[in-house]
Amino acid sequence: MCGIFGYIGNTKKKVALMTNKALCELEYRGYDSWGIAAESDKKMFSVKAVGKISLASTSALQGIEGNVAIGHSRWATHGGVTEANAHPHFNGAHTIAVVHNGIVENHDAIKSFLCEKLGNAFDGLFCSETDTEVIPHLIDYFITHEKKTFEAAFVEAGRMLEGRYAVVAMKIGEPYLLAMRDGSPLVIGKGNHEYFLASDVPAFLLHTRTVLYPGDREYLKISADTMLLRNLDTAKKVDREWTTVTWDKGSATKEGYPHYMLKEIMEQSLSLDKAIRQEDAKLAEFAKIMKDSEHLFFIGCGTAAKMAKLGELYVARIAGRLAHAYVGSEFKVYEQFLNKKSTIVAVSQSGETADVLEGLRVADAMNARILALLNVVGSSIDRMSKKTLFINAGPEIAVASTKAATAQIAVLMLIAYALAGKLAEGKHLMRGVVKDIKTWLTPDVSYDIQKIVVKLAKKNDLYIIGRGLSAPIAHEAAIKIQEVSYIHAEGFPGGELKHGPIALIEHGTPVIALIPNDETKRDMESNTMELRSRGAYVIGIAPENSRLFDEWIPVPDLGPASPIASIIPIQLLAYHLAVLRGNDPDKPRNLAKSVTVK
Ligand code: AGP
Repeated sequence: MCGIFGYIGNTKKKVALMTNKALCELEYRGYDSWGIAAESDKKMFSVKAVGKISLASTSALQGIEGNVAIGHSRWATHGGVTEANAHPHFNGAHTIAVVHNGIVENHDAIKSFLCEKLGNAFDGLFCSETDTEVIPHLIDYFITHEKKTFEAAFVEAGRMLEGRYAVVAMKIGEPYLLAMRDGSPLVIGKGNHEYFLASDVPAFLLHTRTVLYPGDREYLKISADTMLLRNLDTAKKVDREWTTVTWDKGSATKEGYPHYMLKEIMEQSLSLDKAIRQEDAKLAEFAKIMKDSEHLFFIGCGTAAKMAKLGELYVARIAGRLAHAYVGSEFKVYEQFLNKKSTIVAVSQSGETADVLEGLRVADAMNARILALLNVVGSSIDRMSKKTLFINAGPEIAVASTKAATAQIAVLMLIAYALAGKLAEGKHLMRGVVKDIKTWLTPDVSYDIQKIVVKLAKKNDLYIIGRGLSAPIAHEAAIKIQEVSYIHAEGFPGGELKHGPIALIEHGTPVIALIPNDETKRDMESNTMELRSRGAYVIGIAPENSRLFDEWIPVPDLGPASPIASIIPIQLLAYHLAVLRGNDPDKPRNLAKSVTVK
């Protein structure tokens, strides 16, 4: 999803080139076009392009020296993927440049306001189809017609915006940058006589580790040596703490793997090991809030929604508690059941997913308690939650969630054990799981799966079945295969097959059967038999081989942690399918890593 960057310093630098590099660090968020604006020799330099930032010819950027620049990587929402729609957007005189992440929901109303105020001068003013372009024109209107300063005009425009935004603006001749946020991510980095603004820390991690996260409806004015944060509505000064980023950029490199996705799959014994090192006291506090609740909900989106469903199953099986898991975008329906005795556990890798945040706002309005299971410290969901547990998976760069998903499973299990008052048992079990994954997940597993994938690469459809704890994994498997291989994939609970989907099975249709050694085994074997009788090509993911399988992917028997053993081979299968079909597994088409729009 869109990435924004801003820089201001006290000495001349190759600011356009620096912005280009910062945008490359945000590439993982997903985008389709990009652009940069910089002040150089008191003039506005700008560049916009469709396609990859990292492939841009940097020779034009090389010569641009200055103290101020802003940049943007765009993931199209309002208007197609064109240079005109790429950010930055400008006022008519090309003296004000704006980058924006989010949505201006009332952009039509603002256009009508400008049309009424400007009369004939409104004609031909807009150059793009975006919602964003209203912002520079609005700022310009307040400066030109209401004689406000750049700062006052920016604040006035900000107060008119409805929706979600992180905005950075610059104006030729003004020695400061302005920014504001409401609902979309924005982080400030403090360097030596210089400041950085970005959607995420990696954009400036090469320059500084000292960061500050502005809150919702706050705006800031930054020059090379000062930073002033204020409330957008009251203009009152806001004090927030600077913190230090402790994680290393090294953990966000490919380390010899051809793609981040493969690296992130193969390092899962490590990420699981970090995930289970949760402090007992923190788990106990988290579990206590859940225990004292009358209604318990898990919410998430995409992969995290499937993990939220597993959370529901784990608290039922391990702690005997009833919970309900919903996708963030559908949660509002349950608003009527929420009160101060309800607890909502948000599951999210990024902590920025708009649909989850929307669900949490509903919960917050009803005074419900918000807990979170996240990977990104300081993210918007982290800041909304009463208590957060971090999965400690390290930066997940590939769009497809892999190591974050298994880390979520591990911590959800620990939460359920803590809720049951059996945390020591849970931790012991999870330490064994980490050991088993470490022994099993070698390059040989990847190689064996690659051989199976050759037989699947030309198929149009693929189905996955599982029961009990494996049912959410069947759904998650489908997402993984869809998003990187672009093959039509669907997951079903094994028992649902004969109620409809079995009609899709023809001779040679590939079906993946998840058959761990648990209470679902016998029923799953019956379902697999039904499929084979209709000609399905069955790939079994199971600790034991069976005559029912055409192909067998052996996995360790992890007991209640079997979802971890089942999903890893599917992640590898999806990865190899993507590579074999010529797709970029790290940046699948149409997708973004952080989905910050509704
Ligand atoms: C996972 O492979 C997907 N790319 C996607 O479904 C993702 O899990 C979803 O958008 C939620 O993201 P979050 O965990 O950052 O909230």
